[in-house]
Amino acid sequence: MKGIVFTEFLEMVEKEYGLEMVDDIVVNASLASKGAYTAVGTYEFSEMLELLQNLSLKTKITIDDLLFAYALHFFNLLLNNYPSFFSKYTDPIELLASIESHIHVEVLKIYPDAELPSFEVIEKKQNTLIMIYKSSRSMHHFGLGLMYKTFDYFNSKATILLEKIKQNGTEVKFIITKN
Ligand code: HEM
Repeated sequence: MKGIVFTEFLEMVEKEYGLEMVDDIVVNASLASKGAYTAVGTYEFSEMLELLQNLSLKTKITIDDLLFAYALHFFNLLLNNYPSFFSKYTDPIELLASIESHIHVEVLKIYPDAELPSFEVIEKKQNTLIMIYKSSRSMHHFGLGLMYKTFDYFNSKATILLEKIKQNGTEVKFIITKN
């Protein structure tokens, strides 16, 4: 997992809960990196999972809800760092349907070792999009947050249903309807 995902995560934790919480979740994890992340480095996903589990224990917020909140924060970074990825689109459904075929393809050119999910488009109409998310990292709620922010960005609203195909969340169906 790319370092930028870690550095931004710890920044969000600091902003929301303070530096003491950052220390707490790092100290209570057995991290090969010792919690010293750089934006350009690459680290084990298991480290992110440990940090999320520790934060979840401390805050009593589920990991899914933490990932959703983190996505809302992360979207602003994506927008600031990669404005051209967004300006190509005029519609949120078009953008979301292109994650697999365009956006994450470009991401892989910048970060060849990025660990990305797959989003298979099952159905696409003017106001509906059905996609299957697959990833060993089960970060579907991170995706859900990014999807809602994508609609916000276009001043649009949507109802997004998430149906787990695999109970462990490695395969999930997203049913997205523009309101
Ligand atoms: C992960 C970039 C848009 C869904 C990531 C990662 C990067 C990235 C760098 C982390 C990879 C790693 O740590 O190895 C971008 C950029 C985007 C974009 C630059 C737009 C300009 C989106 C959108 C979605 C999305 C709109 C909406 C669903 C995800 C998910 C992950 C992810 C769910 C977590 C990894 C996983 O589930 O396996 N993306 N992304 N991304 N991205 Fe994107």
